[in-house]
Amino acid sequence: MTADALPRRTALLAGGAALAAGCGGGSGGGDGTDGTRTSGTPSPTVLAAASDIPVGGGTVFKDAKVVVTQPVANEFRAFSAVCTHQGCLVDTVADGTIDCPCHGSKYRVTDGTVAAGPAPRRLPEERINVSDGNITLA
Ligand code: FES
Repeated sequence: MTADALPRRTALLAGGAALAAGCGGGSGGGDGTDGTRTSGTPSPTVLAAASDIPVGGGTVFKDAKVVVTQPVANEFRAFSAVCTHQGCLVDTVADGTIDCPCHGSKYRVTDGTVAAGPAPRRLPEERINVSDGNITLA
């Protein structure tokens, strides 16, 4: 009897359509977590381990244009690494100052104020967080 074959085929086709719909419309990713960054919500950037910043000195992070200092143990400060004189990046921290290689300006590691010119003003302070032993930009 051919009447039996028709309903079975119909059922197969219907099942196939349901399967196709299930594959196409479901929960496929697309949430932007595939390595791309959106500019609207900055994620914390880990600069360094807190233990990497010398006590009484500091470290310049050229890519982030930030200098992090630790004037006394467990007290961290961060400043822009862009010299207020003509915009060079400071490049060393030594003897209690953050030093610019271009014209010799020096800034104090304690508060970023000018210790030696020609810089006209202090380095702007940057916000950082220290947690779990890591320093991140706030
Ligand atoms: Fe830094 Fe001139 S740009 S001292």
